[in-house]
Amino acid sequence: MSTAGTWSAPGRVNLIGDHTDYNGGFALPFALPQRTTVTATRREDRTVVARSVGQEEPVEFEVPGSAGAVTGWGAYVAGVAWALAEAGIEVPGAELAIESDVPLGAGLSSSHSLECSVGLALTGLAGVDIDRTELARIVQRAENEYAGSPTGLLDQMAILHSREHHLSFFDARALTVEPVACDPGADGLELLVIDSNAPHELVDGAYAARRTACEAAAARLGVETLREVDDVDAALEALADDPETQRRARHVLTENQRVLDAVALVRAGRLPEIGTLLTQSHVSMRDDFENSVPTVDLIVEKAVEAGALGARMTGGGFGGSVIALVPAERRSAVERAVTTSALGAGYAGPSYLAVEPSPGAGRDV
Ligand code: GLA
Repeated sequence: MSTAGTWSAPGRVNLIGDHTDYNGGFALPFALPQRTTVTATRREDRTVVARSVGQEEPVEFEVPGSAGAVTGWGAYVAGVAWALAEAGIEVPGAELAIESDVPLGAGLSSSHSLECSVGLALTGLAGVDIDRTELARIVQRAENEYAGSPTGLLDQMAILHSREHHLSFFDARALTVEPVACDPGADGLELLVIDSNAPHELVDGAYAARRTACEAAAARLGVETLREVDDVDAALEALADDPETQRRARHVLTENQRVLDAVALVRAGRLPEIGTLLTQSHVSMRDDFENSVPTVDLIVEKAVEAGALGARMTGGGFGGSVIALVPAERRSAVERAVTTSALGAGYAGPSYLAVEPSPGAGRDV
Protein backbone atom coordinates (compact mmCIF):
# COMPACT_ATOMS: atom_id res chain seq x y z
CA MET A 1 0.00 0.00 0.00
CA SER A 2 1.22 3.55 -0.77
CA THR A 3 0.22 6.61 1.16
CA ALA A 4 1.11 8.81 -1.80
CA GLY A 5 2.26 8.57 -5.40
CA THR A 6 1.89 9.79 -8.96
CA TRP A 7 0.22 7.81 -11.72
CA SER A 8 -0.44 8.79 -15.32
CA ALA A 9 -2.36 7.54 -18.34
CA PRO A 10 -2.12 8.61 -21.98
CA GLY A 11 -4.77 9.69 -24.43
CA ARG A 12 -5.16 7.32 -27.37
CA VAL A 13 -5.60 7.56 -31.07
CA ASN A 14 -7.13 4.72 -33.02
CA LEU A 15 -5.17 4.08 -36.20
CA ILE A 16 -7.94 1.91 -37.65
CA GLY A 17 -10.95 -0.11 -36.46
CA ASP A 18 -13.72 2.13 -35.17
CA HIS A 19 -17.13 1.07 -33.86
CA THR A 20 -15.87 -2.49 -33.93
CA ASP A 21 -15.17 -2.88 -30.20
CA TYR A 22 -18.76 -3.21 -29.00
CA ASN A 23 -19.30 -5.65 -31.88
CA GLY A 24 -16.63 -8.02 -30.58
CA GLY A 25 -14.27 -6.95 -33.38
CA PHE A 26 -10.76 -5.68 -34.00
CA ALA A 27 -9.00 -2.33 -33.60
CA LEU A 28 -5.46 -0.98 -33.82
CA PRO A 29 -4.99 1.97 -31.47
CA PHE A 30 -1.86 3.34 -29.83
CA ALA A 31 -1.09 5.56 -26.85
CA LEU A 32 -0.38 9.24 -27.37
CA PRO A 33 2.52 11.10 -25.79
CA GLN A 34 -0.06 13.39 -24.15
CA ARG A 35 -1.06 12.18 -20.67
CA THR A 36 -3.25 12.81 -17.64
CA THR A 37 -1.26 12.76 -14.41
CA VAL A 38 -2.75 12.20 -10.96
CA THR A 39 -0.75 12.91 -7.84
CA ALA A 40 -2.59 11.19 -5.02
CA THR A 41 -2.35 11.20 -1.23
CA ARG A 42 -4.29 8.82 0.97
CA ARG A 43 -6.65 10.28 3.57
CA GLU A 44 -7.74 8.62 6.78
CA ASP A 45 -11.45 9.19 6.08
CA ARG A 46 -13.46 8.14 3.00
CA THR A 47 -13.65 11.53 1.32
CA VAL A 48 -12.12 12.06 -2.11
CA VAL A 49 -11.16 15.61 -3.03
CA ALA A 50 -10.05 16.06 -6.64
CA ARG A 51 -8.57 19.24 -8.05
CA SER A 52 -7.81 19.62 -11.73
CA VAL A 53 -5.70 22.29 -13.36
CA GLY A 54 -8.07 24.28 -15.55
CA GLN A 55 -11.17 23.49 -13.46
CA GLU A 56 -12.05 26.20 -10.97
CA GLU A 57 -13.99 24.11 -8.49
CA PRO A 58 -12.63 21.01 -6.78
CA VAL A 59 -14.85 17.94 -6.69
CA GLU A 60 -15.56 16.34 -3.32
CA PHE A 61 -17.46 13.14 -2.61
CA GLU A 62 -17.64 10.22 -0.20
CA VAL A 63 -16.75 6.74 -1.37
CA PRO A 64 -18.35 4.55 -2.48
CA GLY A 65 -21.15 6.96 -3.41
CA SER A 66 -23.96 6.03 -5.78
CA ALA A 67 -24.13 5.99 -9.57
CA GLY A 68 -24.72 9.41 -11.09
CA ALA A 69 -24.33 11.35 -7.80
CA VAL A 70 -21.53 13.57 -9.13
CA THR A 71 -21.94 15.25 -12.51
CA GLY A 72 -19.66 17.24 -14.81
CA TRP A 73 -15.94 16.35 -15.05
CA GLY A 74 -16.05 14.99 -11.49
CA ALA A 75 -18.29 12.15 -12.69
CA TYR A 76 -15.23 10.54 -14.30
CA VAL A 77 -13.42 10.56 -10.95
CA ALA A 78 -16.39 9.59 -8.77
CA GLY A 79 -17.52 7.01 -11.33
CA VAL A 80 -14.24 5.15 -11.14
CA ALA A 81 -14.24 5.22 -7.32
CA TRP A 82 -17.80 3.87 -7.37
CA ALA A 83 -17.05 1.14 -9.91
CA LEU A 84 -13.93 0.04 -8.00
CA ALA A 85 -16.00 -0.25 -4.83
CA GLU A 86 -18.66 -2.22 -6.75
CA ALA A 87 -15.87 -4.61 -7.77
CA GLY A 88 -15.09 -5.20 -4.12
CA ILE A 89 -12.09 -2.92 -3.76
CA GLU A 90 -11.79 -0.99 -0.49
CA VAL A 91 -11.34 2.50 -1.97
CA PRO A 92 -9.70 4.90 0.49
CA GLY A 93 -10.32 8.62 0.81
CA ALA A 94 -7.77 10.62 -1.15
CA GLU A 95 -6.55 14.01 -2.28
CA LEU A 96 -6.09 13.95 -6.05
CA ALA A 97 -4.22 16.64 -7.99
CA ILE A 98 -4.90 16.22 -11.69
CA GLU A 99 -3.15 17.69 -14.69
CA SER A 100 -3.54 16.79 -18.36
CA ASP A 101 -2.21 17.80 -21.74
CA VAL A 102 -4.58 15.47 -23.63
CA PRO A 103 -6.69 17.76 -25.84
CA LEU A 104 -10.28 17.87 -24.57
CA GLY A 105 -13.23 17.06 -26.80
CA ALA A 106 -10.94 16.07 -29.67
CA GLY A 107 -11.86 12.38 -29.81
CA LEU A 108 -8.49 11.48 -28.24
CA SER A 109 -9.97 9.92 -25.12
CA SER A 110 -9.18 12.62 -22.59
CA SER A 111 -11.94 11.32 -20.30
CA HIS A 112 -10.70 7.72 -20.42
CA SER A 113 -7.15 8.87 -19.70
CA LEU A 114 -8.52 10.65 -16.62
CA GLU A 115 -10.53 7.60 -15.57
CA CYS A 116 -7.64 5.16 -16.06
CA SER A 117 -5.15 7.36 -14.19
CA VAL A 118 -7.62 7.76 -11.32
CA GLY A 119 -8.23 4.01 -11.35
CA LEU A 120 -4.54 3.27 -11.03
CA ALA A 121 -4.07 5.93 -8.34
CA LEU A 122 -6.96 4.71 -6.18
CA THR A 123 -6.00 1.04 -6.49
CA GLY A 124 -2.39 2.01 -5.76
CA LEU A 125 -3.45 3.82 -2.59
CA ALA A 126 -5.63 0.82 -1.68
CA GLY A 127 -2.63 -1.48 -2.09
CA VAL A 128 -4.37 -3.53 -4.79
CA ASP A 129 -2.28 -4.70 -7.74
CA ILE A 130 -5.09 -4.84 -10.23
CA ASP A 131 -5.06 -6.75 -13.53
CA ARG A 132 -5.11 -4.23 -16.40
CA THR A 133 -7.98 -5.85 -18.27
CA GLU A 134 -10.05 -6.00 -15.09
CA LEU A 135 -9.39 -2.30 -14.53
CA ALA A 136 -10.44 -1.61 -18.14
CA ARG A 137 -13.78 -3.32 -17.44
CA ILE A 138 -14.23 -1.39 -14.20
CA VAL A 139 -13.59 1.88 -16.01
CA GLN A 140 -16.07 0.81 -18.69
CA ARG A 141 -18.65 0.26 -15.97
CA ALA A 142 -17.96 3.77 -14.66
CA GLU A 143 -18.53 5.16 -18.16
CA ASN A 144 -21.63 3.09 -18.89
CA GLU A 145 -23.42 3.12 -15.57
CA TYR A 146 -22.13 6.23 -13.80
CA ALA A 147 -21.42 8.72 -16.59
CA GLY A 148 -24.12 7.19 -18.81
CA SER A 149 -22.12 6.75 -22.06
CA PRO A 150 -22.63 3.35 -23.72
CA THR A 151 -19.00 3.06 -24.85
CA GLY A 152 -16.96 -0.09 -25.42
CA LEU A 153 -13.52 -1.16 -24.22
CA LEU A 154 -11.26 0.15 -26.98
CA ASP A 155 -10.02 3.25 -25.20
CA GLN A 156 -9.34 1.71 -21.79
CA MET A 157 -7.58 -1.32 -23.29
CA ALA A 158 -5.39 0.94 -25.47
CA ILE A 159 -4.56 3.26 -22.58
CA LEU A 160 -3.83 0.49 -20.09
CA HIS A 161 -2.02 -2.00 -22.37
CA SER A 162 -0.10 0.10 -24.90
CA ARG A 163 3.68 0.05 -25.19
CA GLU A 164 6.10 2.60 -26.54
CA HIS A 165 7.00 2.08 -30.25
CA HIS A 166 4.08 -0.34 -30.64
CA LEU A 167 0.54 -0.31 -31.93
CA SER A 168 -1.97 -2.28 -29.86
CA PHE A 169 -3.86 -4.94 -31.81
CA PHE A 170 -7.07 -5.28 -29.80
CA ASP A 171 -9.40 -8.24 -30.15
CA ALA A 172 -12.59 -7.24 -28.34
CA ARG A 173 -13.99 -10.79 -28.28
CA ALA A 174 -10.90 -12.44 -26.81
CA LEU A 175 -10.17 -9.28 -24.76
CA THR A 176 -6.51 -9.43 -25.75
CA VAL A 177 -4.04 -6.79 -26.85
CA GLU A 178 -1.01 -7.80 -28.92
CA PRO A 179 1.79 -5.27 -29.35
CA VAL A 180 2.76 -4.68 -32.99
CA ALA A 181 6.12 -2.94 -33.45
CA CYS A 182 5.77 0.27 -35.45
CA ASP A 183 8.47 2.81 -36.28
CA PRO A 184 7.04 5.29 -38.79
CA GLY A 185 10.31 7.30 -38.78
CA ALA A 186 12.17 4.32 -40.27
CA ASP A 187 10.00 4.72 -43.39
CA GLY A 188 10.32 8.51 -43.36
CA LEU A 189 6.71 8.77 -42.19
CA GLU A 190 4.88 10.68 -39.51
CA LEU A 191 1.61 9.98 -37.75
CA LEU A 192 -0.20 13.29 -37.78
CA VAL A 193 -3.27 13.92 -35.62
CA ILE A 194 -5.42 16.69 -37.04
CA ASP A 195 -8.00 18.00 -34.57
CA SER A 196 -10.85 19.42 -36.61
CA ASN A 197 -11.91 21.67 -33.73
CA ALA A 198 -15.43 21.05 -35.08
CA PRO A 199 -18.08 21.22 -32.37
CA HIS A 200 -19.28 17.77 -31.29
CA GLU A 201 -23.02 17.56 -31.54
CA LEU A 202 -25.39 14.93 -30.19
CA VAL A 203 -22.40 12.68 -29.65
CA ASP A 204 -23.84 10.38 -27.00
CA GLY A 205 -27.22 9.95 -28.63
CA ALA A 206 -25.75 9.32 -32.06
CA TYR A 207 -23.17 6.87 -30.69
CA ALA A 208 -25.91 4.96 -28.86
CA ALA A 209 -28.04 4.88 -32.02
CA ARG A 210 -25.16 3.33 -34.00
CA ARG A 211 -24.64 0.75 -31.31
CA THR A 212 -28.33 -0.14 -31.34
CA ALA A 213 -28.27 -0.49 -35.14
CA CYS A 214 -25.36 -2.93 -34.93
CA GLU A 215 -27.14 -4.98 -32.28
CA ALA A 216 -30.26 -5.04 -34.42
CA ALA A 217 -28.21 -6.27 -37.39
CA ALA A 218 -26.66 -9.03 -35.28
CA ALA A 219 -30.09 -10.06 -33.95
CA ARG A 220 -31.51 -10.28 -37.47
CA LEU A 221 -28.57 -12.40 -38.53
CA GLY A 222 -29.05 -14.67 -35.53
CA VAL A 223 -25.60 -14.04 -34.09
CA GLU A 224 -24.60 -12.63 -30.73
CA THR A 225 -22.32 -9.96 -32.22
CA LEU A 226 -21.32 -8.99 -35.76
CA ARG A 227 -17.94 -10.61 -35.08
CA GLU A 228 -19.64 -13.99 -35.39
CA VAL A 229 -20.47 -13.37 -39.05
CA ASP A 230 -18.37 -15.65 -41.28
CA ASP A 231 -19.84 -14.99 -44.71
CA VAL A 232 -19.93 -11.21 -45.11
CA ASP A 233 -21.62 -11.22 -48.53
CA ALA A 234 -24.39 -13.53 -47.38
CA ALA A 235 -24.94 -11.44 -44.24
CA LEU A 236 -25.23 -8.23 -46.23
CA GLU A 237 -27.60 -9.93 -48.67
CA ALA A 238 -29.78 -10.99 -45.75
CA LEU A 239 -30.03 -7.36 -44.61
CA ALA A 240 -30.84 -6.01 -48.08
CA ASP A 241 -34.44 -5.09 -47.24
CA ASP A 242 -33.22 -2.61 -44.60
CA PRO A 243 -30.59 -0.47 -46.35
CA GLU A 244 -29.65 1.60 -43.30
CA THR A 245 -29.01 -1.43 -41.08
CA GLN A 246 -27.18 -3.04 -43.99
CA ARG A 247 -24.87 -0.01 -44.30
CA ARG A 248 -24.11 0.03 -40.56
CA ALA A 249 -23.27 -3.68 -40.61
CA ARG A 250 -21.19 -3.30 -43.78
CA HIS A 251 -18.99 -0.73 -42.07
CA VAL A 252 -18.33 -3.01 -39.10
CA LEU A 253 -17.78 -6.15 -41.16
CA THR A 254 -15.43 -4.52 -43.66
CA GLU A 255 -13.64 -2.54 -40.94
CA ASN A 256 -12.72 -5.74 -39.10
CA GLN A 257 -11.05 -7.04 -42.25
CA ARG A 258 -9.21 -3.74 -42.78
CA VAL A 259 -7.76 -3.99 -39.26
CA LEU A 260 -6.54 -7.54 -39.95
CA ASP A 261 -5.03 -6.38 -43.26
CA ALA A 262 -3.34 -3.39 -41.58
CA VAL A 263 -1.86 -5.57 -38.84
CA ALA A 264 -0.49 -7.99 -41.45
CA LEU A 265 1.09 -5.14 -43.41
CA VAL A 266 2.69 -3.51 -40.36
CA ARG A 267 4.05 -6.86 -39.21
CA ALA A 268 5.49 -7.43 -42.68
CA GLY A 269 7.34 -4.10 -42.55
CA ARG A 270 4.98 -2.56 -45.13
CA LEU A 271 3.61 0.35 -43.08
CA PRO A 272 3.32 2.78 -46.04
CA GLU A 273 0.78 0.43 -47.64
CA ILE A 274 -1.76 0.83 -44.86
CA GLY A 275 -2.47 4.34 -46.16
CA THR A 276 -5.06 3.02 -48.60
CA LEU A 277 -6.80 1.10 -45.81
CA LEU A 278 -7.00 4.23 -43.66
CA THR A 279 -8.71 6.19 -46.40
CA GLN A 280 -11.05 3.28 -47.22
CA SER A 281 -11.97 3.16 -43.55
CA HIS A 282 -12.86 6.83 -43.64
CA VAL A 283 -15.06 6.37 -46.69
CA SER A 284 -16.80 3.50 -44.92
CA MET A 285 -17.52 5.68 -41.89
CA ARG A 286 -18.63 8.58 -44.07
CA ASP A 287 -20.94 6.63 -46.36
CA ASP A 288 -21.97 3.50 -44.46
CA PHE A 289 -21.71 4.27 -40.77
CA GLU A 290 -22.57 7.94 -41.35
CA ASN A 291 -20.69 9.12 -38.27
CA SER A 292 -18.52 11.69 -39.99
CA VAL A 293 -19.18 15.40 -40.48
CA PRO A 294 -18.37 17.66 -43.47
CA THR A 295 -15.42 19.39 -41.74
CA VAL A 296 -13.73 16.07 -41.10
CA ASP A 297 -14.46 14.80 -44.63
CA LEU A 298 -12.82 17.91 -46.03
CA ILE A 299 -9.73 17.45 -43.83
CA VAL A 300 -9.33 13.84 -44.96
CA GLU A 301 -9.75 14.76 -48.62
CA LYS A 302 -7.29 17.67 -48.53
CA ALA A 303 -4.70 15.78 -46.48
CA VAL A 304 -4.65 12.97 -49.05
CA GLU A 305 -4.58 15.42 -51.97
CA ALA A 306 -1.58 17.18 -50.40
CA GLY A 307 0.42 13.96 -50.08
CA ALA A 308 -0.76 11.96 -47.04
CA LEU A 309 -0.62 8.23 -47.83
CA GLY A 310 -3.98 7.88 -46.10
CA ALA A 311 -6.21 9.57 -43.54
CA ARG A 312 -9.31 8.81 -41.54
CA MET A 313 -11.45 10.12 -38.73
CA THR A 314 -10.49 8.42 -35.46
CA GLY A 315 -12.57 7.41 -32.45
CA GLY A 316 -16.29 7.75 -31.95
CA GLY A 317 -16.69 10.39 -34.63
CA PHE A 318 -19.29 13.08 -35.27
CA GLY A 319 -16.36 15.52 -35.29
CA GLY A 320 -13.11 15.11 -33.40
CA SER A 321 -9.78 14.26 -34.97
CA VAL A 322 -8.28 12.74 -38.10
CA ILE A 323 -5.20 10.50 -38.10
CA ALA A 324 -3.06 10.81 -41.22
CA LEU A 325 0.00 8.85 -42.35
CA VAL A 326 2.24 11.45 -43.91
CA PRO A 327 5.70 11.37 -45.53
CA ALA A 328 7.79 13.65 -43.28
CA GLU A 329 8.67 15.95 -46.16
CA ARG A 330 4.96 16.45 -46.99
CA ARG A 331 3.88 17.38 -43.48
CA SER A 332 3.98 21.14 -43.77
CA ALA A 333 2.32 21.00 -47.21
CA VAL A 334 -0.45 18.84 -45.73
CA GLU A 335 -0.95 21.21 -42.80
CA ARG A 336 -1.05 24.24 -45.12
CA ALA A 337 -3.53 22.65 -47.51
CA VAL A 338 -5.82 21.45 -44.73
CA THR A 339 -5.84 24.77 -42.85
CA THR A 340 -6.42 26.78 -46.03
CA SER A 341 -9.34 24.60 -47.09
CA ALA A 342 -10.95 24.48 -43.64
CA LEU A 343 -10.78 28.24 -43.19
CA GLY A 344 -11.87 28.79 -46.80
CA ALA A 345 -14.99 26.67 -46.16
CA GLY A 346 -15.81 28.74 -43.08
CA TYR A 347 -14.76 26.07 -40.54
CA ALA A 348 -12.49 26.47 -37.51
CA GLY A 349 -8.76 26.19 -38.12
CA PRO A 350 -7.58 22.67 -37.24
CA SER A 351 -4.75 21.90 -34.76
CA TYR A 352 -1.90 19.49 -35.48
CA LEU A 353 0.01 17.02 -33.33
CA ALA A 354 2.75 14.79 -34.76
CA VAL A 355 2.63 11.74 -32.49
CA GLU A 356 4.51 8.51 -31.86
CA PRO A 357 3.25 5.30 -30.27
CA SER A 358 3.95 6.03 -26.60
CA PRO A 359 3.89 4.14 -23.29
CA GLY A 360 0.62 3.10 -21.70
CA ALA A 361 -0.60 4.01 -18.24
CA GLY A 362 1.50 3.40 -15.16
CA ARG A 363 3.00 4.63 -11.94
CA ASP A 364 5.44 7.52 -12.35
CA VAL A 365 6.62 8.09 -8.76
C1 GLA B 1 -15.38 5.80 -28.47
C2 GLA B 1 -15.68 4.69 -27.48
C3 GLA B 1 -14.97 3.39 -27.86
C4 GLA B 1 -15.19 3.04 -29.31
C5 GLA B 1 -14.94 4.24 -30.22
C6 GLA B 1 -15.28 3.97 -31.66
O1 GLA B 1 -14.04 6.18 -28.39
O2 GLA B 1 -15.25 5.06 -26.19
O3 GLA B 1 -15.40 2.35 -27.02
O4 GLA B 1 -16.47 2.50 -29.52
O5 GLA B 1 -15.67 5.38 -29.79
O6 GLA B 1 -14.41 3.01 -32.17
